[in-house]
Amino acid sequence: MVTVNDKEKVFHLHNGRISYLLYVMESGQLGHLYFGKALNSAGSYLHMVEKAYRPMTTYINEGDLTTSYEQLRQEYPCYGTSDYRYPAMEVQGSDGSRICKLEYQGYEIMEGKKALPGLPATYTEDGAEAATLEIRMKDGWRNLEVVFSYTIFRDVDGVARSVRFVNHGKEALWLNRAMSLSIDMPDADYYGVQLSGAWARERYVKTRELTPGVTAVSSMRGNSSHQHNPFLALKRKNTTERSGEAIGFSLIYSGNFLAQAEVDNYNVLRVMIGINPFGFQWKLEPDAAFVTPEAVMVYSGDGLNGMSGQFHRLYRNRLARGYWRDRERPVLINNWEATQFDFVEEDILKFAKKAKECGIELFVLDDGWFGKRNDDRRGLGDWKANTDKLPGGIEGLAEKIEALGMKFGLWFEPEMVNKDSDFYRSHPDYVIATPGRNMSHGRNQYVLDFSRKEVVDAIYVQMHELLSKAKISYIKWDMNRSISECYSAAYPADRQGEIFHRYILGVYDLHERLIHDFPELLIESCSSGGGRFDAGMLYYAPQGWTSDDSDAIERLKIQYGTSYVYPLSCMGAHVSASPNEQVGRATPIGTRGNVALTGAFGYEMDLNKLSGEEIEEVKEQVAFYKEYRSLIAKGDFYRLLSPFEGNFAAWEVVRQDGRQAFVTVTRILSETNGPYRRLPLCGLSEERKYHVESRYLSYDAYGDELMQYGLILEDKSSGSPTDASAGCRDFMSLMYKVSVIE
Ligand code: DGJ
Repeated sequence: MVTVNDKEKVFHLHNGRISYLLYVMESGQLGHLYFGKALNSAGSYLHMVEKAYRPMTTYINEGDLTTSYEQLRQEYPCYGTSDYRYPAMEVQGSDGSRICKLEYQGYEIMEGKKALPGLPATYTEDGAEAATLEIRMKDGWRNLEVVFSYTIFRDVDGVARSVRFVNHGKEALWLNRAMSLSIDMPDADYYGVQLSGAWARERYVKTRELTPGVTAVSSMRGNSSHQHNPFLALKRKNTTERSGEAIGFSLIYSGNFLAQAEVDNYNVLRVMIGINPFGFQWKLEPDAAFVTPEAVMVYSGDGLNGMSGQFHRLYRNRLARGYWRDRERPVLINNWEATQFDFVEEDILKFAKKAKECGIELFVLDDGWFGKRNDDRRGLGDWKANTDKLPGGIEGLAEKIEALGMKFGLWFEPEMVNKDSDFYRSHPDYVIATPGRNMSHGRNQYVLDFSRKEVVDAIYVQMHELLSKAKISYIKWDMNRSISECYSAAYPADRQGEIFHRYILGVYDLHERLIHDFPELLIESCSSGGGRFDAGMLYYAPQGWTSDDSDAIERLKIQYGTSYVYPLSCMGAHVSASPNEQVGRATPIGTRGNVALTGAFGYEMDLNKLSGEEIEEVKEQVAFYKEYRSLIAKGDFYRLLSPFEGNFAAWEVVRQDGRQAFVTVTRILSETNGPYRRLPLCGLSEERKYHVESRYLSYDAYGDELMQYGLILEDKSSGSPTDASAGCRDFMSLMYKVSVIE
C-alpha cells in the first residue's frame, strides 16, 4: 500500500481506490502532489510540481526565481521561510526566533499502525489492514526532529495523520502551533461543509463557498463544543449526497481545535486541522517529545453520503473499541427529563418496573443521586450516594434494579465541582482558576484541574470505589460547562499554554483507567448533550448523548448532521415525553420512536404516565429495536431527504449484504392533497425481489425498481387525505421494512 520511488523521492500511498502522493523537494521540504481517486502506482509524478516566476514573491535560493514556498504545494509548511500563508507548525527558541526549516532525513514503512501515547486514535487488528509511512524531518539549526506519520487503510478510503516532535537540542523549545494535518490542494473550487450550531441544536449542516482568504471553525472552550464540530469537508459545486467529489477532515480530539481552509492568490487551497493554536504553547525540553492528536481525511467520489460511509466504517470498527464495540447495545431508560433532581428510591423503582414490562434492559439514574445534590448548586465532587433519597445507597438500588432483571447505569460529571461540596472544601486549590482573577462559573460549577495527576487520582479513587462495590454496568459521563480563566496552579508560567491540552489528556487518562479496571462497563459520553460529541470521545465511549434536545422534529436535523461523520451506533437517541420539555411540541409516540430508533436507542420519560395504547407502541418499538439493532449499528446508512431542505426527512439503513433494510420517512408539517411521491432507495441488490411493509402499505418489488423508480410513498406521509385515527397530522413518521424474498 506504500510505493516509494527512491530516485524521485516520491511516496505513493494507495489501496486500489485512492492515492495520496507526496515528494521530497530539492530543498528537503516535503511537497504535496495529489490526494484523490487512485492513480497508477507505477507512474512518475514529479511533473505535477507547478512553479513559475511570480512577481512580489520571496525566493529561497539566490539566482533562482521560481523556488518559493509561497508557491509550492507543501505537506506541512513551517513559518518564516518565504511562505506567507498560515503554517502548520511554529516553533520558538529561547532566542525568540520563530523561523524553522525542515529537511528530509529518511523514511520507514511499517505494517498496521502505532498507537499514540495517551491519545485516542484509529488502530488495526492485524498488520495487513493498513500500512504506515513515517517520514523523518529535521530542523538542523535547532536539532528538532519532526516525524510525519501517514497511515493508509485497506478497507477505508482514508489516510490518518499525526506528527511527533522530538527536541534533540540542548535548549528548551516552545511549540506555538502543531497542527495534525495540513495539505495544499491544487485548486480551491470547493464548498466548505461544516457542522455548527449551539446547545440543543448541534451539528447543523452549513455550507459556504470558499473564496480567497480563510474559512475556519474552531473551539477555544476546552471542549470540542456545541458550536462547531472538529470536522470540515470539501465538496464540489455539483456534489450531491450520492455523486461527485467530497473530502472530509476529522480530528480525533475532544479539546480546543481549529479546522481551516485557506485559499491563496493562485487558487491553491491549504486545509489544516489540529489543536487550536490560540492559547496553545508547549514547552519541549531537551529529549522531550510531543505528539499531535490524529486527524483523518477521507475521499469519496460518491458524494457526501459516500464520505460519511468511509468515516462510519473506520470509526465504528477501528476507533471505537473494547467489549461494546461489536455488541448489541441495551435499550435504556433514563430518569432525567422525568424527575430531574426530585426523586427517591421508591419512585425510581416504579419507573424501572414499568420499563422492564416494556422490555427495556438498562435503567440509568441521572444527576441528583449523590452528595447534597438537590439542585445544581451543590454536590459535584462528592461521588457518594445521598442516603435521604437512596437509603440503601447505590449498591442497594443497583441490586434492586438487577433483581427486576435489568442492568443498572449511573450518571457522573467527573471533571466538575461545586463550591458547596466536601470535595471542594477539602481541595479548593484543585480547580482551574487564574490567581488574582475572578473565577467564572457555568451552571454554578467549576472545572477541576485535570491537567494535574493528583486531581484525576482523587476522582478516580471515588469512582473506582463505587464501581467496585455496586453492580454498575453503564456510566453516563457528563461535562456541563466550558473552561474559563484557564490556568493551573501546578505548572510554571512558561507551561500555562499546555493546560487546555493537558486537561484533555487527563480526561482521556481517567477514561483509560476505568476501561482498564472495568472492561465491560459501557460508557456514554455527554456534554450538556452534544458539546463534546467528537471522534476522540468515541475511542473511550462507544456511544454519546447526541443532544439535550430530545424533540423528534428537532432531532431530524441534529441526527442528520451528526451522521456526516459519526455512525448510528454512537448516536444516543431517546424517546421523550410529549409535549417536549425543550420546545413544547407535541408529537405522536410513533414519530418519536421512529426518529430515535436510528441510534443507540432508549427512553427519557416516566412510562407510568403513558396510556395503555402508547405502552403497546413502546413495546413494539423496543421489540423492533431488538430485532434490528445489529442492522442499525452495523448497516450502511443513507441520507435520502434532508430536513435542511424541505418538509421531509428520510433515511435508510441497509444490511451490508443488501438483504434487509428499513427506511424512516418523516413529514414535518401536514399537507392536503399533496403530490404522489416516490423515494429512490440505495444499497439494495438490483436483481433481488423484496417485500416492502409499512403501516399503510405492503407490496413486492425488485431492488432495481426500488432504487430507480423508488419506494412508493402513497400513504399518510405523502399528504394523501388523512384519516382521523392516524392522530396528529403534523409530525407524521413512517417506517418501511424492506426484506429480500427471492
Ligand atoms: C446535561 C445532560 O445532557 C442531561 O442529559 C442531564 O444528564 C443533565 N446534564 C443532568 O445534569
